Amino acid sequence: MAEYGVNPECLEGIDRILFTPEQIQARVSELGAQISRDYEGRSLLIIGVLRGVIFFISDLMRSIKIPIEVDFMAVSSYSADSREMGFVRLIKDLELSITGRHVVFVEDIIDTGLTLNYLLRTLRTRNPASLEVCVLFNKEKKRLIDLPLRYKGFDIPDYYIVGYGLDHREKYRNMPFVGLLKAEVLQNNG
Ligand code: PRP
Repeated sequence: MAEYGVNPECLEGIDRILFTPEQIQARVSELGAQISRDYEGRSLLIIGVLRGVIFFISDLMRSIKIPIEVDFMAVSSYSADSREMGFVRLIKDLELSITGRHVVFVEDIIDTGLTLNYLLRTLRTRNPASLEVCVLFNKEKKRLIDLPLRYKGFDIPDYYIVGYGLDHREKYRNMPFVGLLKAEVLQNNG
């Protein structure tokens, strides 16, 4: 891990690297190329849900070679339990209208699918011309709702992953790789 120039203090809780920056970049470039081909000649709006998506969406946008616009949403569950029950609160809405627009909704990770399900339902009421999903990490083990995922980076087992935007209690987001947390970090901190 030292080869990425990360301060050892930041690496204390990391067990091992699951995806290197090079592996991530290669896959993100492929997704960007695929989206560029699929939407050529159309005006595309990219929507991200904060905050974990920030690295992925900025790299993805640079890999898309057609004109795009971008906007963001943010959500907060009322509590861990309430999210499990499907309650999600929109704390930042879009600034742009999506009516009649071709939209790709970008997520860093999908787990139960409850967050995405809520957001897709919300967005569909606004009558976009089309609405597809692009997710970097797809974790199906705990999926509660079947969702249409047009663009997928990696299918992963039921791992708690951090880095490249993903956090554990707000830490590790700035790691350039995606890694697994040590079991004791999860056990100690819930
Ligand atoms: C992650 C991710 C999704 C959600 C997916 O966000 O960005 O929004 O969890 O989980 P689900 O499929 O079980 O609903 P998180 O709550 O970690 O917030 P963050 O993006 O601010 O890190």
